[in-house]
Amino acid sequence: MARINEHYRKLKAGYLFPEIGRRVAKFCAENPEAKVIRLGIGDVTEALPPAIIQAFRQGVEELAERKSFRGYGPEQGYDFLREAIQKNDFASRGVQVDADEIFVSDGSKCDTGNILEIFGSDNKVAIVDPVYPVYVDTNVMAGRTGPSDDQGRYAGLVYIPATAANNFVPELPKERVDLIYLCYPNNPTGMVATKDELARWVDYARKNDSIILFDAAYEAYITDPKIPHSIYEIDGARDVAIEFRSFSKTAGFTGVRCALTVVPKTVMATTTGGERIPLHGLWNRRHTTKFNGVSYPVQRAAEAVYSTEGKPQVKALIDFYLTNARLIREGLQASGITVYGGENAPYVWVKTPGNESSWDFFDRLLKTAHLVGTPGSGFGASGEGYFRLSAFNSRENVEEAVRRFRKVVG
Ligand code: MLT
Repeated sequence: MARINEHYRKLKAGYLFPEIGRRVAKFCAENPEAKVIRLGIGDVTEALPPAIIQAFRQGVEELAERKSFRGYGPEQGYDFLREAIQKNDFASRGVQVDADEIFVSDGSKCDTGNILEIFGSDNKVAIVDPVYPVYVDTNVMAGRTGPSDDQGRYAGLVYIPATAANNFVPELPKERVDLIYLCYPNNPTGMVATKDELARWVDYARKNDSIILFDAAYEAYITDPKIPHSIYEIDGARDVAIEFRSFSKTAGFTGVRCALTVVPKTVMATTTGGERIPLHGLWNRRHTTKFNGVSYPVQRAAEAVYSTEGKPQVKALIDFYLTNARLIREGLQASGITVYGGENAPYVWVKTPGNESSWDFFDRLLKTAHLVGTPGSGFGASGEGYFRLSAFNSRENVEEAVRRFRKVVG
């Protein structure tokens, strides 16, 4: 009989968001009259901007004519999109990234998981705790960990706490690690990293021959001009970092699917024999073998994010969600609740009242206020006693959610 990948059995019951979905579905089935407001998973709610829709439609129209029809595209993405990304996301900030170092894909969740395939299974992995659960789960699936303890920490991973005690600035690992996941603006805490803080990590990676896997999926939400948008704004990062970006939260593409990964040609890792190999070629090999590219109309839609009409429309969308985040933050603060984030990110990280556990608070909020958030402990042991609220919803729902929240905890 075929055998399963035993590492999957080490995973905790279910992926965080489906588990929340299951609890909410059960509650809704038992309470059909309840008007539940969901500020749990960070899924966008507002329509795609008109310039994007127009480019999307135009892309579809081209497929309707034999002369403009396209079949397989380049796996790494069409040049028009890679060049638009290079120019607008990187060159405009004085950052050196070449268009052929950009790999267009269908999502950062997939890319942050898939990237592990090009690294040896004996690499030591460091993650900041709390963390986007995909980084941990994909390492468990790949066999890089032992079992988890009762707090959900897996043996073999190096956890670096980011808590109120260190103002959410994680310390450098005390031991040498090979791979480090960093996510800024941070999911789940909504906090950002300064240039100096990122420079410490780049310096560590250069000294220790480590690779930083930098998730910048929320960079478009940065409002503070001093905060870097890309790890490559830090000198020397091109030699040690891979960066992930996404159109999901930037332009409302969670259902459309388009993202990108930057693998500079200068970033290297070694063979067991000690030979230094560029990761660009390995990722290109993996990408072209296992992926057939993002569809043409979707890439045209993504290109429109950078057009003269698209730019202000996308900015308005981000401003809309950032205003939601501000309303949540200020509304909760006014009730004496301690909150973090939400200024340069679409997430507000809330201290649960009276040290209530994250899941108890989740259940209480769902039952008494018909409100859904994400329990902080779902992001790691250091998230216990916290709760994440997402700013992705209509204004009306956000305002109502804040009223309900204040009634429960005020
Ligand atoms: C989240 O809520 O953390 C994100 O929406 C999950 C994701 O982007 O996959």
